[in-house]
Amino acid sequence: MSPQQITLSTWQHARGALRNRYLRQGLYDEGTALMSGVIVNLHDAEHTARRRLENRLFRRDTFAFWEQDLIPHNIAESISTHLAAGSVDLLQLARLTMMRISAGIAGIDLGTDPTRFVLLAELMSKLARASSVNHFIGDKQSVINDGNAALATFEAEFFAPARASRLQLLQQVAANELHAAELPKDVLMTLLSNQDNLSIPDETVLREIAYFPWVGSHSTSGAFVNLMDHIFEWLNSHPDSRKELVADIALIQRFGFESLRLHPASPESVRIAVSDTTIEPDVDVSEGSRVVIDMQAANRDPLIFGSDASQFNPYRDIPSDVSPWGLSFGSGFHACIGQELVSGLEQTATDTEVPLTGAIATMAQIVLQHGAIPDPARPAKRDAQSLRQNWLEYPVVFRP
Ligand code: HEM
Repeated sequence: MSPQQITLSTWQHARGALRNRYLRQGLYDEGTALMSGVIVNLHDAEHTARRRLENRLFRRDTFAFWEQDLIPHNIAESISTHLAAGSVDLLQLARLTMMRISAGIAGIDLGTDPTRFVLLAELMSKLARASSVNHFIGDKQSVINDGNAALATFEAEFFAPARASRLQLLQQVAANELHAAELPKDVLMTLLSNQDNLSIPDETVLREIAYFPWVGSHSTSGAFVNLMDHIFEWLNSHPDSRKELVADIALIQRFGFESLRLHPASPESVRIAVSDTTIEPDVDVSEGSRVVIDMQAANRDPLIFGSDASQFNPYRDIPSDVSPWGLSFGSGFHACIGQELVSGLEQTATDTEVPLTGAIATMAQIVLQHGAIPDPARPAKRDAQSLRQNWLEYPVVFRP
């Protein structure tokens, strides 16, 4: 068999492909200058080693701290000036909140100067576009050039100082002046501490640290705006349910799962076969084949989600071995490391303590509590230049 290109659209095949160890990541082959060596682009043993290292940072108690303290605090701070003005763009609000958190996870020290923060947000927008350039409609080379320039600025302005300060801390540990337990708990510190035994080149550390702030903030803010859009639509058709919804964070979380299912951040995933293999249950592909996984179709497969699979229905019944968000956080070895931060834990009937409800539900409840409704004078806009149908802005006004 010669290499072929196939597209998988059913739930079973999509999940089979994501879990198949003979398929490597292929989504970033056009954005390789920025994504080479980054965790999501690694395969096999190299991926397992990196993932094992970084998993240590993504612990449930850390998620709980981010959700219960950091996110409400950051959003309260970002929203306060807009409350006085009476309006805000939800996309910017969520991006700024999540950018701070994701930059912290990466190990970028932002300090208190707001201009540094604005610069980081600008650089991350360019990196996000350039890394997913294969979904871009238009002049791809100029997007790639912008991304490369943004990476160079990121290195000089943010990465180099953060790296230098962490290397100094490592020296203090070596000289017994500091205890290892006092080192910052972020991805940069983790990689630098293990750089020698895992032979990670410096440029790879740079690209990995540049990846976290944008992947953490852009996909989460997009998911948050999709959720708010569904909430506003729901409230239009159920005008008496606003009070009940605003008070019920677990219900907002279910709205979030359903919205994530309908709108995966990337409408398709791509894998390349590293040898001949069978994608469960029954698709044979030869080495070198390009496998496109239509995430949107798989997440709307009527065999799994019912005949109304393309509709928004947060009360739908879902088989017990299927996540309510579908495959939107991937599946198997590359499954999203930030999933619990974004959408929390699924509540079970036997839960005795309040489980995590996730960043997007937390942010949604806060803006709804402030009386947000879509701005009648400024309709929301989507990015016509991206197949991802990303939002460009989503203005709301606050009504008591
Ligand atoms: C709504 C928000 C998010 C969505 C929809 C999302 C989606 C995904 C998906 C689909 C994958 C798998 C990619 C693949 O199989 O090719 C992934 C991987 C990943 N995500 Fe997320 N993500 C989100 C938020 C986050 C956040 C907040 C972080 C961290 C701060 C994060 C970090 C990562 C990392 C590091 C990987 C690579 C994991 C690996 O390759 O082992 N993501 N994400």
